[in-house]
Amino acid sequence: MSEIQHQFVKKILTSASHGAYEKGRGLAPSNIALCKYWGKRDTTLNLPLNSSLSISLGEKGTCTQIRRVPNDQFILNGEPIDPATPFAQRLSTFLELFREPCRAPGFEVITDNTIPTAAGLASSASGYAALVLALNDLAGWDLPRQLLSMLARLGSGSASRSLFTGFACWHRGERADGTDSFAEAIETTWSDLRIGILTLTEAEKPVGSRAGMQRTLETSPRYAGWPARAEVDFELLQRAIVQRDFETLGATAEANALEMHATMRAAAPPLDYFLPETRTHIDRVQHLRAAGLPIYLTIDAGPNVKLLFQAAHTTEVAAAFPALEIIDPFGASHARTP
Ligand code: PMV
Repeated sequence: MSEIQHQFVKKILTSASHGAYEKGRGLAPSNIALCKYWGKRDTTLNLPLNSSLSISLGEKGTCTQIRRVPNDQFILNGEPIDPATPFAQRLSTFLELFREPCRAPGFEVITDNTIPTAAGLASSASGYAALVLALNDLAGWDLPRQLLSMLARLGSGSASRSLFTGFACWHRGERADGTDSFAEAIETTWSDLRIGILTLTEAEKPVGSRAGMQRTLETSPRYAGWPARAEVDFELLQRAIVQRDFETLGATAEANALEMHATMRAAAPPLDYFLPETRTHIDRVQHLRAAGLPIYLTIDAGPNVKLLFQAAHTTEVAAAFPALEIIDPFGASHARTP
């Protein structure tokens, strides 16, 4: 990690307390963006070109435990990870930022995901959010979540939003030093909102979002319009949430996702995360909607499709998509962010 990143972490930690416990633990939900983050204004500090807004996926997410050891060791879903894998290397690089502040030569990181890793279900988001929460616990920093969101952002941009349950927004910020680019919860619930997950594959995506967004930004002629368009969607979604306007929420989220994918496909070489079944599902959703069923979709950087609908239509939606996993993002069993 660069000196700029070390300095940034130092700045965030100036208001931290110091406890130094033996172990730390963090729990973070996965999130899906209704207004997508796609493109960075600063690749070192992971600063986005547009603000984004998400909803967390209830109990789906990551639980991470951490302790100090001489050398890094990672265990993912019960399996030790080879330190030579890109996954382990990325984690070790991120942890470089925290060795000195945590007085740890290495970290043992035990992570359990309830979502597939790297299949466009935002496991890196909950992963880096849970890791930062575990570090905060280990070192006794007692930092507010907005500050932790800026640390998680360095691991994966979308991780900034996984520090919160329910709706969250990540403000793009304007400052070059990154101190105004943080996420926060949108303090409201929407009890009859449902998310449906259609998992087409749990395979890793061929191009990671970091490389994918850079390629789009550098080569897609459509990208010029994206940041301004996303800011408009960001505002529309915030208003739809306040007004409980499901049609606007769904329509804006779907259009935003499809525009992001169109922008990627215009890149050189084209970036296409869809499988043939992804297109079949898109057609299905749009036909059902034309026939009167209020149902919308969103898709992240992967082929899996997520549906948005209201509880009153659960029976019809489940009948149309038998493999659907239904999530109640504000269900009583999901603890709210403290
Ligand atoms: O956080 P990253 O670098 O994995 O990028 C996430 C990109 C999308 O999932 C496609 C959009 C988003 O806002 O989550």
